[in-house]
Amino acid sequence: MTLIAAEGLDVRLGQTTVLTGVTLQVRPAEIVTILGPNGSGKSTLLRALLGILPASGGRVLRQAGLRVGYVPQRLMIDRSLPMTVRRFLSLPQRCSDAQATTALSRVGLPGVDAQQMTDLSGGQFQRVLLARALLADPQLLVLDEPTQGLDQPGEAAFYRLIADVRETTGAAVLMVSHDLHVVMAASDRVICLNGHICCEGTPRVVSNAPEYRALFGLGTLGALALYQHEHDHHHDHGHDHGEGHHHHGHGQNHGHGHDHAG
Ligand SMILES: Nc1ncnc2c1ncn2[C@@H]1O[C@H](COP(=O)(O)OP(=O)(O)OP(=O)(O)O)[C@@H](O)[C@H]1O
Ligand SMILES: [Mg+2]
Repeated sequence: MTLIAAEGLDVRLGQTTVLTGVTLQVRPAEIVTILGPNGSGKSTLLRALLGILPASGGRVLRQAGLRVGYVPQRLMIDRSLPMTVRRFLSLPQRCSDAQATTALSRVGLPGVDAQQMTDLSGGQFQRVLLARALLADPQLLVLDEPTQGLDQPGEAAFYRLIADVRETTGAAVLMVSHDLHVVMAASDRVICLNGHICCEGTPRVVSNAPEYRALFGLGTLGALALYQHEHDHHHDHGHDHGEGHHHHGHGQNHGHGHDHAG
């Protein structure tokens, strides 16, 4: 049983072919995370799956009547316009007070109804976006970089929340993330995208694979490998315990040197 699927999906935007031959499925109650460098087509893939963008080749299949909660990567909110959380939850679709209350407590923000959106912290703001997406009682949550702007503890807390929401609502989650550390713990499956699917698998299986070590297993160096690799051909797998030995001066090392092989 599949909620949503792509089969050999191609997407062209203007003159550019952004996605080629993407095949994937999301099943009920699964948490699937898409990783990939900027411009690799992650948001485009989500939008094509949701039917916001047309396929130029292949096809997208959605279960009939599928209820989706979508949080786009960029939200056009006029920061100068006063708006309470309660009002925001009723846009674009009206919801009852009871629904708003339920959604807000589900994301751990009971009682913020009357607060101004602009007064929320980054983490609270992202939770309100999630609460709004939950109003449709979705079978599938589609979240495009839901932890943008959060610090690492905030991010970890948000992923715990997503796992909790999946647990209580049974909704499947398809999300885009850049955080290689928390993603592996929070996902049933990870898909690495770069215009096409480079690799994918369960964290458990993949974490012992050389491809995983090359892509995700070396802390920030793993992130670097991910961002540099372009195709699913050869990766250099020679750095099994290489932490601390490979400083290439890439200027992106944020010091998260712990291994994440668990
Ligand atoms: N309307 C458009 N017309 C032409 N090209 C576009 C259009 N929208 C996006 N693109 C291009 O499609 C590619 C993929 O964009 P997309 O937003 O899907 O990437 P992404 O993986 O989500 O990136 P990021 O990590 O920055 O969010 C980019 O090269 C982008 O320039
Ligand atoms: Mg994007």
